[in-house]
Amino acid sequence: EPRKPLISGNWKMHHNHFEAIQTVQKLAYRLTKDDYEAVDVSVHPPFTDLRSIQTLLQSEEIPVALGAQNCHWEEKGAFTGEVAPPMLAKLDVTYVIAGHSERRELFGETDDVVNQKVRAIVKSEMTPILCVGETLEEREAGGTEDKVSGQVRAGLAGLKAEQVGAMVIAYEPIWAIGTGRTATPDDAQATCALVRATVREVAGGDAAEAVRIQYGGSVKPGNAAELMAQPDIDGALVGGASLDADDFARIVQWRH
Ligand code: G3H
Repeated sequence: EPRKPLISGNWKMHHNHFEAIQTVQKLAYRLTKDDYEAVDVSVHPPFTDLRSIQTLLQSEEIPVALGAQNCHWEEKGAFTGEVAPPMLAKLDVTYVIAGHSERRELFGETDDVVNQKVRAIVKSEMTPILCVGETLEEREAGGTEDKVSGQVRAGLAGLKAEQVGAMVIAYEPIWAIGTGRTATPDDAQATCALVRATVREVAGGDAAEAVRIQYGGSVKPGNAAELMAQPDIDGALVGGASLDADDFARIVQWRH
């Protein structure tokens, strides 16, 4: 069975309430039934607009999935300022990003923390988008494979094969995030193939065939088609270009 691509818009800390609503309304206006049949689409607003976007998607029957950008790993507790996975599940959140490089670099998330988050997301019956990727220094030192396969192994620890097969892994070379510098399709494909080979080692062939692997890092309407044409790339995690509904729709519609 072919893997259905997933195009996810990670808004990061952007868009006020009005802009959030308007972006989803414009996106829904652009996307067609054919698009939704061919591609799964998710939007990841800041926590403060999850409820409003959930209400909009439901009331207008828009088949875009709701996503979150992060969560805590505990189900509840004295963790001021944090949001628990069951709270997100109650808002009909489908996908939760875990271990984005900005969380790892700026907020000190270790492989172990990221793994706890991935497990908590699965436990709450949502789908994790586990992010992995190397820095420019690591790439130049020839360390891409070790870094990425290590992050995949650590991120998937303790999961059953069928749980791994149902999730999403996003490969984002850190030097390509928000820089306008995209990995070449060949380089992106090579590392996504490495991610899949690592999944095969830790969770077996069925999980490796089923897991969806996104590429992220300066994905734009102009480069989406050549990236999506790669055999081990099953979608994109889009930052900057997802803030504009027209650009994001054009990425979802990379086929035409
Ligand atoms: O989560 C999204 C990635 O960090 C990519 O961001 O498309 O702005 O480079 P970008």
